[in-house]
Amino acid sequence: MRVGRVVCPGSFDPPTNGHLDIIRRAARLHDEVIVVIGANRAKKGLFTVEERVDMLREVTSDLPNVSVETFRGLLVEFCREHGVSAIVKGLRAVSDFEYEMEMAQMNYRLGQVETLFMTANPLYSFLRSSRVREVATYGGDITSLVPGPIEERLRAKLSAGDLG
Ligand code: PNS
Repeated sequence: MRVGRVVCPGSFDPPTNGHLDIIRRAARLHDEVIVVIGANRAKKGLFTVEERVDMLREVTSDLPNVSVETFRGLLVEFCREHGVSAIVKGLRAVSDFEYEMEMAQMNYRLGQVETLFMTANPLYSFLRSSRVREVATYGGDITSLVPGPIEERLRAKLSAGDLG
């Protein structure tokens, strides 16, 4: 079976260079990549789901086989409705493994959707969105952690007093 169309799911609050690295590499391997933003717990986020869609579309605009969508409910339902047979996820370290393996096994059990793990680029293996938000909150340099347009959006949130 060919794995033509895959999803790269996540919260992306905000998207980081680590996310982008996985999305770009997946786009080289598969015909079509749908980046899907889980919106079940979106109210608690820093960025709204709409802002995350905008950010992801902007930073993937040079990748013609990448699109950005949102989903509510179960990821496997989105996959079923969109003819997606596999989920691509990045693994940063052993600490990610247990959580990701459980999710992968549940998604296979629920919908026979496969999960393909891609090892994180070591440049970004320490990177997670919550840490980027924290560093930005206290004025740290996030230049090498997120794409330029995302940094600008974070700075805008900071100056609007939405952080910290
Ligand atoms: O940013 P994250 O934590 O890696 O994103 C997690 C996400 C949104 C991919 C995950 O929580 C998810 O798929 N949620 C949808 C609910 C679902 O399908 N749960 C069953 C899988 S165990």
